[in-house]
Amino acid sequence: MAVTTVQAGRGTRPAQNLRVDRWWLQPALTAAGLTAFVIYSTWSTFTPHDYFAGATVGRDYLSPFFSPCITNRCGAGTTWHLVNWWPFSAAILMLPFPLMFRGTCYYYRKAYYRSFWFSPPACAVPEPHGKYTGESRFPLLVQNLHRYALYLVIPFPIILLWEAWKGTHMITVSAAGSLVTSRGLGLGTLILFVNALLLLTYTLSCHSCRHLCGGHLNALSKGPTRYWLWKRVSFLNEHHMGLAWVSLVAVGLTDVYVRLVASGAIHDPRFF
Ligand code: FES
Repeated sequence: MAVTTVQAGRGTRPAQNLRVDRWWLQPALTAAGLTAFVIYSTWSTFTPHDYFAGATVGRDYLSPFFSPCITNRCGAGTTWHLVNWWPFSAAILMLPFPLMFRGTCYYYRKAYYRSFWFSPPACAVPEPHGKYTGESRFPLLVQNLHRYALYLVIPFPIILLWEAWKGTHMITVSAAGSLVTSRGLGLGTLILFVNALLLLTYTLSCHSCRHLCGGHLNALSKGPTRYWLWKRVSFLNEHHMGLAWVSLVAVGLTDVYVRLVASGAIHDPRFF
């Protein structure tokens, strides 16, 4: 029986082996989600105002895009004023680290190779590229630096937790007109904590973190603590894709919320 074949990039495939379902939906949604995030985060990075809700609105909320805010342009209420020579947005100094981490993430690599480069678009779908060189030469060779990107970003979720704790710092005006500070919990504090925990979970679920915790050992039985750690991180690792998306959306929404509070567009409700 004659088999109909289809030219599929680097070879031919029997036509009956190719997918006919809506395989394009997932890469299209991925491309839309990543593009939306890149556009929004770029706008936020180059909009260096309203990223900190300070005394004027009674809250100590800092956008995660600007955390840690290390320049002296960061405003009086922020913690780290280490750099006094940087004339541009403080976010430009910090964002390269998470960007490097997410950009070289094994999941995101698969996502953008498929949705932007069609390499390959999906399983059992003809590939438009004539040849495949993998990640064995420049520039994709730098993807192999992912584990070092992990080492660089490990402090970030911890700093975000610290910033969320600072978000419990509430400022109110007394009947006499003076500023009164106290600890409390606002909706924004909750959002900052959730965002920090999601970023921490995403970071811990990283494949390189799993390797670091115990995956590189030849015999896990010789390192019971490593084994304990490796099992927990392996559990998170099973949900890495979901955590990658949830934490990405959370960081964007947290920035939106802080900006709305800082600009006075909305009032942050206080629970206690
Ligand atoms: S593999 Fe995704 S963050 Fe490391």
